[in-house]
Amino acid sequence: MSTKNATEWLMSHKRFDAHQLKKIPNRTYSIAITSGKGGVGKTSVSIKMAKVLSDSGYRVLLVDFDTNLSNTAVKLGLPITDNFYDLLSAKKSFEECIYTEGNFHLLSACNGNYDLLDNEAGLDKLIVDIMVEHEKEYDFILLDCPAGLSKESLSLSAYCDYRFVVVTPDRSSITDSYSLIKILNTKYGVSENHLLLNKVSSNRQYEKLVKSLSETVSNFLSCRLPVLGGLNFESLEVDHFDRILLKDAGSRIHKNFINVLRRFVEEDIGTTLSTCKSGQDSSVPYASNSGVDDLEQEVQLGS
Ligand SMILES: Nc1ncnc2c1ncn2[C@@H]1O[C@H](COP(=O)(O)OP(=O)(O)OP(=O)(O)O)[C@@H](O)[C@H]1O
Ligand SMILES: [Mg+2]
Repeated sequence: MSTKNATEWLMSHKRFDAHQLKKIPNRTYSIAITSGKGGVGKTSVSIKMAKVLSDSGYRVLLVDFDTNLSNTAVKLGLPITDNFYDLLSAKKSFEECIYTEGNFHLLSACNGNYDLLDNEAGLDKLIVDIMVEHEKEYDFILLDCPAGLSKESLSLSAYCDYRFVVVTPDRSSITDSYSLIKILNTKYGVSENHLLLNKVSSNRQYEKLVKSLSETVSNFLSCRLPVLGGLNFESLEVDHFDRILLKDAGSRIHKNFINVLRRFVEEDIGTTLSTCKSGQDSSVPYASNSGVDDLEQEVQLGS
């Protein structure tokens, strides 16, 4: 099936109103982690979410849809493979191509595979087929989307039950996120996206960012924008950030994540996030607003 046909097929199935799907138990939830702009933290968020959810007992498939600049395996310290290309060219099965660690399953992608450039048409359809074929095996299927506004990425994001739009507090990220939300709304009929603010330094910055995007979306689009909360900017060396993120269950960034995920799982899915497996997590309070620790102490949390 050509890319164009795949898009039409996806749109004709009208799977875009996440609201219709709310609070139905015993099913698989698909979430696209997306943004428009590059480098805002989509991959970090995707991996961390997958890990927290799988540690909580949910069966999780993380699909790396940054198909030729895949970072999921790198960030997890796993060997880089071209398994995704083998799957695409039917040389290997899905089971042979995924990395598994308990409840956590990863379908990684390629890194600079030249042949993939000639075979990119229909990648969205391939991922949809995988999601449909394997959905009974998973509680959550997460999609780490690439930067940019390709048709494949938009189609897949629209196809998913939920979209987490990751935004950072800079004008280009805000503009790019709005562009993404606009196309999803006007061309794909998507009426809800969840906002996740990353690299936030203060509650004031958080509030400003939420206000700016929420007002623009409500003025110009027919689209809900529930806010999941914020993740602090951590001034750490880049690779050190990823280590802390994945390994340190006592870190501030881990607590930020628990807040965001607990809010989503409890308010949208209608179930609970049991985080006892990773030790201290169960004692993390559920922050009522941003969830961000205020570096500048400008606004008291929960006030
Ligand atoms: N809260 C944070 N504080 C500090 N650094 C962060 C934070 N979140 C992510 N980063 C860093 O920002 C960089 C970009 O993160 P990441 O690769 O997850 O972004 P991305 O949106 O997936 O990028 P791309 O669009 O290239 O796929 C990484 O070096 C990551 O460690
Ligand atoms: Mg990425």
